[in-house]
Amino acid sequence: MTQTQRLLIAPSLLAADFTKLAREVEEVEKAGADWLHLDIMDGHFVPNISYGPSVVKALRKHSSLKFDVHLMVEPVDCWLEPFADAGADHVTFHIEAGPHAHRTIQTIRHMGLRAGIALCPATPAEAVSELMDMIDLILVMSVNPGFGGQKFIQSQVPKIRRLREMAEESGRHIHIGVDGGIDPETAPQVIRAGADMLVAGSAIYGKPDYGAAIAALKAGVSA
Ligand code: DX5
Ligand code: ZN
Repeated sequence: MTQTQRLLIAPSLLAADFTKLAREVEEVEKAGADWLHLDIMDGHFVPNISYGPSVVKALRKHSSLKFDVHLMVEPVDCWLEPFADAGADHVTFHIEAGPHAHRTIQTIRHMGLRAGIALCPATPAEAVSELMDMIDLILVMSVNPGFGGQKFIQSQVPKIRRLREMAEESGRHIHIGVDGGIDPETAPQVIRAGADMLVAGSAIYGKPDYGAAIAALKAGVSA
């Protein structure tokens, strides 16, 4: 991370207690979260189903955090407007979810939202090389998407480094986020490789003190 970049922490609501979602959102905001990460799974692109735009909309009035929507759905384009209407600030979709990523990014940006592109562990950094002039966020999946609480895949660290180089070469401000298996042990490794945004589910919502959990991840900057 360069001196001007600040590490952003995005708790993933997937690991929250679903019987009290509004309170769970308010509590991470109070605890120092920067963004709220909302995982949308369709049971088709990934082998799990989470929740849809109506839940995002219901939570919108409980928080002023940026809503960072991670679409694990295929097809993508028909879901852009519903999530924009529900209050998404950022919409991230998978490069693997279809052949027309360029068009999808255009649509997201035309709606006035920030556009992110996510890469599964098997997808090389170069898959997004033609999109660097238009994306705001690259989300490196350090687990196979679909479930929380999985083990961090170590081979993604050099990919983060490569994407940070590509982001610097672009001359644009592009966030490099990492999602999956992030905890106080893996956070310093990905930060050193160039990540400036960390998604964490179990390492925050799985802990009794959300403030301490977020602080433990932020400590990775100096580790
Ligand atoms: C996985 C999701 C993640 C997940 C991370 O498909 O995209 O955001 O909630 O969970 P942890 O931090 O527990 O690995
Ligand atoms: Zn996610």
